[in-house]
Amino acid sequence: MSKITVSGGKPLKGRVDLKGAKNLVTKAMVAALLGDGPSELRDVPFISDVEIVSRLLQLHGVQINHAEDGTMSLDPSNVKSARMVDIDAHAGSSRIPILFCGPLLHQLGEAFIPGLGGCHIGDRPIDYHFEVLRNFGAVIEELPNGTRLSAPKGLKGAKISLPYPSVGATEQVLLTATRAEGLTELSGAAIEPEIMDLIAILQKMGAIISVDTDRVIRIEGVKRLGGYSHRALFDRNEAASWAAAALATKGDIFVGGARQQELTTFLNVFRKVGGAFDISDEGIRFWHPGGDLNPVVIETDVHPGFMTDWQQPLVVALTQAKGLSIVHETVYENRFGFTDALVEMGAQIQIYRECLGGTPCRFGQRNFNHSAVISGPTPLKGADIRVPDLRGGFSHMVAALAAEGVSNVTNVQLISRGYEHFLQKLTDLGADFTYSENE
Ligand code: EPZ
Repeated sequence: MSKITVSGGKPLKGRVDLKGAKNLVTKAMVAALLGDGPSELRDVPFISDVEIVSRLLQLHGVQINHAEDGTMSLDPSNVKSARMVDIDAHAGSSRIPILFCGPLLHQLGEAFIPGLGGCHIGDRPIDYHFEVLRNFGAVIEELPNGTRLSAPKGLKGAKISLPYPSVGATEQVLLTATRAEGLTELSGAAIEPEIMDLIAILQKMGAIISVDTDRVIRIEGVKRLGGYSHRALFDRNEAASWAAAALATKGDIFVGGARQQELTTFLNVFRKVGGAFDISDEGIRFWHPGGDLNPVVIETDVHPGFMTDWQQPLVVALTQAKGLSIVHETVYENRFGFTDALVEMGAQIQIYRECLGGTPCRFGQRNFNHSAVISGPTPLKGADIRVPDLRGGFSHMVAALAAEGVSNVTNVQLISRGYEHFLQKLTDLGADFTYSENE
């Protein structure tokens, strides 16, 4: 386990540059499996989620090269079944393997998926995924160490309706329907920018996909797909994270590669809180303009709403706003565990089971602590913290950097699942810290 010892209380100032979005790149890598020729994906970050997906693809015979500049080539010409024991070695490491199902069924007629991992921010079931796959004609068999899938009659297009616009389940449909026989109509689809970028990639490969304005996606199955050449969409979650870090530490950060279009909802809230930003062709500069920050009421939601992944870093900044802020988390039932450490550092945050936003959500009247009231401003002081998950971990680091005194933050390797060159970026921003491995 790795540890960072932070001397906080210094504003973060400088420049960070973004690469492609974790939540697109990993799916785009899986899409390459569907092609009968090589693909090239540019701006692929060096993060551990990418490493895990690379290893799983390599086990299935995909040849991968990830160059220093972030260009990745993926050649699926020799796709083969992998040994169960080798796949199983990756159990619990990521959620992406569930998306291998459709492409492997198309390429090999069978798939084996290990137990899934990912951040512990709720139960994170995969029932929608399995329901979707059954709709296409897949037969699913649960084994003690994973799930085996087959498609004895091939995969056929289907009419599917999702109970909630799940990002992963929408991607499952896209990656399965493009080569399934006939027409697929998906209603209740997620329409996050990363999904639109995945659709762009699939279209480059030869897929026929149309997106209506009412969350309906139609896919006409084609017999074969080729490779693609694509520059990945920038990581808007990383952009929002650094923006929140600038605000919480009273700093000034230029985020190279950030674009306004995919961040408009975030920028509105950032402005209401009292943060300043300046948008240029090259990126967005975020800074604390001085004076008091304002409290806000936020409800997380699916796109085009305020993303759940932005909530955690922003909560740290809200501990410094003058008054009561409310955050109603409507995407995950259990994403406020990270606030315990903030309270230990001096923040005043209370968590409620009730829906405290304007819209009752599916977690109301149930035992889920999914609303937070943050009362500020409260000075933060250094503490010993253990990183709980990716975004929560980033938030803890920001809190430690904003706090007076010394903090010891352990389990920090989790942050490298989604933030490329995290320690180097902190150094570039003038953070005062030391890093040690195997604590
Ligand atoms: C993706 O997760 C992202 N992960 C998450 O980012 C992100 O928070 C989330 O989408 C929402 O935008 C990746 O892209 C790898 P969902 P995903 O399916 O696809 C429920 C980060 O920090 N659900 O949209 O797993 C689920 O429990 C990560 O970068 C079911 O009930 O999210 C949740 O409450 C964290 N059954 C809701 O739907 C299912 O079968 C939305 O989940 C699937 C989902």
